[in-house]
Amino acid sequence: MTSLRQFVLCLAATFFVPWLCLVVIPHAEMKAGPAETWTDEDLGKTYSYPAGTPNIFRRGQAVYAAEGCASCHTQMIRPTYLGFESWRPGFGKEGTIEKPVRTRETLPGDYAGERFAYLGVQRIGPDLANGGYRHDEAWHHVHLYAPRSVRKFSTMPSFRHLYIKRKVRGQRSAEALPLHGEFDPGEGYEVVPTEAARALVGYLMTLKKDAPLPPAGDDAPEGDGDAEEG
Ligand code: HEC
Repeated sequence: MTSLRQFVLCLAATFFVPWLCLVVIPHAEMKAGPAETWTDEDLGKTYSYPAGTPNIFRRGQAVYAAEGCASCHTQMIRPTYLGFESWRPGFGKEGTIEKPVRTRETLPGDYAGERFAYLGVQRIGPDLANGGYRHDEAWHHVHLYAPRSVRKFSTMPSFRHLYIKRKVRGQRSAEALPLHGEFDPGEGYEVVPTEAARALVGYLMTLKKDAPLPPAGDDAPEGDGDAEEG
């Protein structure tokens, strides 16, 4: 009888202990707390961390998931002790749109509000954690439609099924993609984005996982809170 009890107890422990260590404890440690709002006195700007996600995000993220973008792209800048990624050109530091406040490694709070965090599994294409800084919407549309029209070396597949090629009726649409050379749809034709393409590009433009962190030791009294590393 006792051996049966022991057996059942051991069986329960076999499942309970890994569940505790692999699910409960990491969840408690990594889950994002409520957003914290704070003001950077030097810049006179108010920030919130986690920054939250705008509306376009959800629909665009669903397209990102369905198209399998995460099989080639990551959204995670590793900590500096695993590689000097925060300083890698193009990972957010350099951009054509505006410069991020500060490029840093990605933290769990940066995914707050996302139903699923698309960390990705391998980097066949560049990391997109700060992808929203690098291009504008028009560039994304042309790149998604015909990656090799903007980068000759590109191995990214074309996502032209997210676009419609149609006859120009009356005036050319303001949304028509500026395509040239072999990608030109031809005289009298234009290529316009579908709703899904618009949502996807809207999502790409929001990818800025660099919200400034609250000053370290936030329960310390006001003063020049010693933010770690500059
Ligand atoms: C088969 C792998 C693959 C898939 C799938 C893929 N990409 Fe790419 N992607 C690449 C490669 C390689 C590059 C770099 C060359 C280039 O810019 O075209 C790239 C570049 C990019 C860039 C430019 C990044 C930069 O820093 O300039 C963006 C944005 C992008 N991809 C978005 C997407 C989106 C959105 C999807 C899903 C609809 C997607 N990719 C699917 C391989 C892929």
